[in-house]
Parts: sequence; C-alpha cells; structure tokens
Amino acid sequence: MPEEPISTVPATSERREPTASEVDGARSHPVVLEARGLVKHYRQRQARQRGHRRAAAVVHAAEDVDLELRAGRVAALVGESGSGKSTVARLLAHLVRPTSGEIILDGRPAVRMGSREYRRMVQMVFQDPFSSLNPVHSVAYHLERPLKIHHRATKSEMPDAVARLLARVQLGPASQYVGKLPHELSGGQRQRVAIARALAAGPRVLLADEPISMLDVSIRLGILNLLAELRDEEGLAILYVTHDIASARYFADTMTVMYAGRMVETGPSRAVADESAHPYTQLLLRAAPDPDRAQPVHLGATGGPPSLVHPPAGCRFHPRCPAAMDRCRREVPPFFQVAPGHAAACWLHAAEGVAVSVSPTATGRPDPSPA
Ligand SMILES: Nc1ncnc2c1ncn2[C@@H]1O[C@H](COP(=O)(O)OP(=O)(O)O)[C@@H](O)[C@H]1O
Ligand code: SF4
Ligand SMILES: [Mg+2]
Repeated sequence: MPEEPISTVPATSERREPTASEVDGARSHPVVLEARGLVKHYRQRQARQRGHRRAAAVVHAAEDVDLELRAGRVAALVGESGSGKSTVARLLAHLVRPTSGEIILDGRPAVRMGSREYRRMVQMVFQDPFSSLNPVHSVAYHLERPLKIHHRATKSEMPDAVARLLARVQLGPASQYVGKLPHELSGGQRQRVAIARALAAGPRVLLADEPISMLDVSIRLGILNLLAELRDEEGLAILYVTHDIASARYFADTMTVMYAGRMVETGPSRAVADESAHPYTQLLLRAAPDPDRAQPVHLGATGGPPSLVHPPAGCRFHPRCPAAMDRCRREVPPFFQVAPGHAAACWLHAAEGVAVSVSPTATGRPDPSPA
C-alpha cells in the first residue's frame, strides 16, 4: 500500500468488522469520558532583554490527544517526564482550559456543564498525598467536606458515610482514622484517604496522576490493587498516569504512550507492551526495570526529549529514533493500525498498516480491542 497523506483516512474496505464479543464488551464498558483532538499550549513569559520584553514562548504541551475512558476499565497514559501526561489529566479534570479540542462527559460537551456538576463526576487523585491533604485538618474533615458540598450525606448520616468511605479504601475500623492528621498516617494510608476523598463526590471517573510514584515500593501494589477493585466492583472509569510502563502493563486494560506532547501508540496494554510497534515504546520498555537484567538501560543514552517550545518538525521522536527516515523529519505520521485496536503513529507501518484515526468520533478508528 502506498504511504498515506498526513490526514487520517478510513480504509473501510481493509478493516474487519468487530466480532460479537467485542461489541458486547464495548456495550458493557460504555464510554464515560472522551477527549477529542485536545490541544494545550502554555504561554510562558520571557524575561526582559535589554529593556525589551521578548514575545511569549509557547510550550506545545499536548497536541491532538484523543482518549476515551470506559466504565469499569483502566486506561493508562504512559511516557517520560515532560511528555504531557499531567497536562492531559489536568485538562480532563477541568483544572486547565484546552487551547482547542473537546471533552465529552456522558455524551455531553463538558463546556456546557457547570464546574461543580463536572467535578462531581470526574475526580482527580494526585501524586503526592501529603501535599494534597491539608496538614491541619483531620481525616474526618477531608471526607466530610466533599460529602457536604456534593449533598451526599446529611449531618446525622455523616459518621456512617465517612466510615463507609474509609471501608471502601480498606481503612478500618473508622474510629482508628477519623481523628488523625495527615502526618499521623503512613504514605499509603494518606493516599487511601486521598482516594476516599475523591470517592466522596460519587464520581464516575477517577484521574490518578502518578498515584504510586511517591510511595514506598512495598505499598505500591496495594494501592494499584485498590484501584483495580474500584474498577471491577464499582465500575469506575480510571485514567492511570504513569512513567512506569511495567505497572501500566500489569494494571491497565488499555495503554496510550505519549512522547513530547503527542500520542504515539495506543491499544490493549498487553499488546502495546509485548508487541510494541513504535520505536519510542520499544525504548521505554528497554529502559523499564527488569529483574533479569544486571544493568538498567538509561533513556538518556539516546539523547533527551526535545524542547516543547520548538518541537522537531515531522515525527517529534525523529532526533532520537534509530529508524528515522527522510520523511520522518518532514511529515507528522498518522496512526496506522497494526492489529485490531492497536495503532502506532510511525511511518515504519505505512507499508503494511492501515492509516486510521484514533479519534473516538472518526470512522477510521482502530477496530475495538477484544473486551
Ligand atoms: N503551567 C505551565 N506553564 C508552562 N509550561 C508548563 C506548565 N505545565 C506544564 N508545562 C510544560 O508542559 C510540558 C508537559 O508537562 P507535563 O504535562 O507536566 O508532563 P508530564 O506529566 O508528562 O511530566 C513540560 O514541558 C512542562 O514544562
Ligand atoms: S515516524 Fe520515523 S522517526 Fe518517528 S518513530 Fe517512526 S521511524 Fe522513528
Ligand atoms: Mg506529570
């Protein structure tokens, strides 16, 4: 097949129809939150030079990001530091406004919803539970406040509602925790309280930005297992933001890899991790900790991520890519489908792949992954 132009094109004749089990799977995990073509450019003030203010620099932090979060599924967003993961999470949480693009919650454009209504449904869990909890307030205060704001419990119902929240994050008996201040808890307990606080609003979506990276290795798995239980038992749609592709493979159902503000690969997590199709994903995997490898591989060995003020033309990975071709330096690669539900934005797949859009609205979206 000849190489496709930059615009994404459906190739319906070459796409297979989804199987019955894939269709059933998609029905039982309906899309709750969608991002369509999200772009975020930050304006950075520049210092004055010889009395003249220089034009504001623009940081191209996220471009053309399409994501969907489904009920009862975990979608991982993976990439190096500075690749735009937190920007995407903050856009989805309505903490920053997109430069362009759309966010759809339960089929409704988010811009048409009030911020309280949106926040009730979409809650964020941050990396550092210590700084996200107020050091002078007790656990009870942290949980009662959102219960009150979102009218989830009356005054007389409050103690039971707080105890139920603590039980959902496996902290009990409640009497042992309600009066404690954040510094009286372990890191893992603090993150559980932060998750309980997010649950207090009764959300359908949890956006967890590096929720385990500041915790001791010994307690990380417990937090991931708790999130997995919330997915499986309560049907929450979860975005798991991480730089650790190994934990994304373990925990997430689908995975999207970002590089320098752009999505580069997306698909079922196992397929992305075990049969990665993008050279950057392959590099991330080689750098991931492996107990069988004596020496860790450093990503720095192939250079660092590019400036997002002046990102490279064409494929943003081309300055570091061992397989870069002329075309890569000039043209942004579209997504090519490499397997059902699995696509990579890389010209290496132009010959055998089918150019598709990963936009949830586009007809050329990769076929649904097996449920
Ligand atoms: N408020 C901001 N103003 C200007 N630049 C920002 C701001 N927040 C993030 N950035 C820049 O956007 C890029 C992506 O950052 P971020 O989304 O935090 O990446 P990640 O979470 O993957 O580490 C980085 O270059 C970062 O410096
Ligand atoms: S498009 Fe080119 S530079 Fe980019 S990852 Fe593929 S081969 Fe490498
Ligand atoms: Mg981040």
